[in-house]
Amino acid sequence: MTDPMLPAPWRIESVRKETADTFTLALAPVNAAGPLSFAPGQFNMLYVFGVGEVPISISGNPLEPSPLLHTTRAVGVVTRAMWKLKPGDVIGVRGPFGSNWPIESTKGRDVVIVAGGIGLAPLRSVLLHVLARRADFGKVLLLYGTRTPEDLLFRAELRTWAKRRDLDVHITVDRATGRWRGNVGVVTTLIGRAPFEPKNAVAFVCGPEVMMRFVSLELRKRGVPEPQIHLSLERNMKCATGFCGHCQFGPEFICKTGPVFPHDRVKALLNVREL
Ligand SMILES: Cc1cc2nc3c(=O)[nH]c(=O)nc-3n(C[C@H](O)[C@H](O)[C@H](O)COP(=O)(O)OP(=O)(O)OC[C@H]3O[C@@H](n4cnc5c(N)ncnc54)[C@H](O)[C@@H]3O)c2cc1C
Ligand code: FES
Repeated sequence: MTDPMLPAPWRIESVRKETADTFTLALAPVNAAGPLSFAPGQFNMLYVFGVGEVPISISGNPLEPSPLLHTTRAVGVVTRAMWKLKPGDVIGVRGPFGSNWPIESTKGRDVVIVAGGIGLAPLRSVLLHVLARRADFGKVLLLYGTRTPEDLLFRAELRTWAKRRDLDVHITVDRATGRWRGNVGVVTTLIGRAPFEPKNAVAFVCGPEVMMRFVSLELRKRGVPEPQIHLSLERNMKCATGFCGHCQFGPEFICKTGPVFPHDRVKALLNVREL
C-alpha cells in the first residue's frame, strides 16, 4: 500500500444479490496491481465516487484473494448508492486495514464461529481459511442466526457447508417464515448444546453488539476461557488510519487496534450503552 489515504480504482466484475438488502461485489484492480493480500477479519474503505466512503470487511478467502470480495448490507446513503453500481463500474478502494482473527493461535484447537446477520460476512473469510487448512484444527463449528430465513447470507454455500462431515453447521432464525423447519430462537440458544470442547476452543464472534454481549456470556458459561473469545466491533470511520478519532471506542481506535479484539479487552466497554 503506497498512500493509505489514496483510494485505488477497482472495477466491479460482478454483483451477486445475497438477500433483499445485501449484495456481494467481486472487484478487480483497474491498474496492474496484483491481488490485495489481506488477513481474515480485515476491512477496506470503499469509495463510491461523488457519494462517500465506508468501511466494509473483506468476505473472500485470504488464500485466494482474487477477485476481492465485499458483502454489504444497503442501510444508508453510501451503501445504497453502492448497490446501484453495475459490472464495469469503478469504485475506490483503500486498505486493507485493522486487526485480524488470530487464526495462528487456533491451530490444534476447536474453532467456534458465531455469526449474527451480516456478521457472517467478516467471518466467511476466516471460515474459508480454516476449511482450506482443515487438518490444522480440531472441531470446526458455524453457529449462525438471522431474523428470518430470508435474511440468511450465502445460502448456496451454507447448504454445501452443511453437507461436510468435518464442519458442524447450526442455523437458527428469530422468526420462522415460509417453509422453514429448522431451529427457531436467538443464536445464543445454539451454544449450550454445540459439540465442542470449551477449554480447547477459540471463538470468533460477529454480529450486533447486543448479540455479541450475550454470545460471550454463553460461551463463558460453557467454560470457554475469556482470552479465547474474539469479537469484531464496528464504529463509524473516516480515515481508517488512526488520525481522525471517529472510530474511538473508550481508549481504543477501532481502525487501529480493532476491529477484532479479545473479549477481555473490550468487555467493560461493551456494557456501556451507546458508547
Ligand atoms: C470495520 C468495519 C467493518 C464493516 N464491515 C461491514 C460489512 O462487511 N458489511 C456491511 O454491510 N457493513 C459493514 N460495516 C458497516 C458499514 O460500514 C456501515 O453500514 C456503513 O458505513 C453505512 O454507511 P451508509 O452511508 O450506507 O449509511 P449512513 O447513511 O451513514 O447510515 C445509515 C444507518 O446506519 C448506521 N450506521 C452508519 N455507519 C455505521 C457503522 N459503522 N456501524 C453501525 N451502524 C452504522 C447509521 O446510524 C444509520 O442508522 C462495517 C463497519 C466497520 C466499522
Ligand atoms: S477512523 Fe479515523 S481514527 Fe479511526
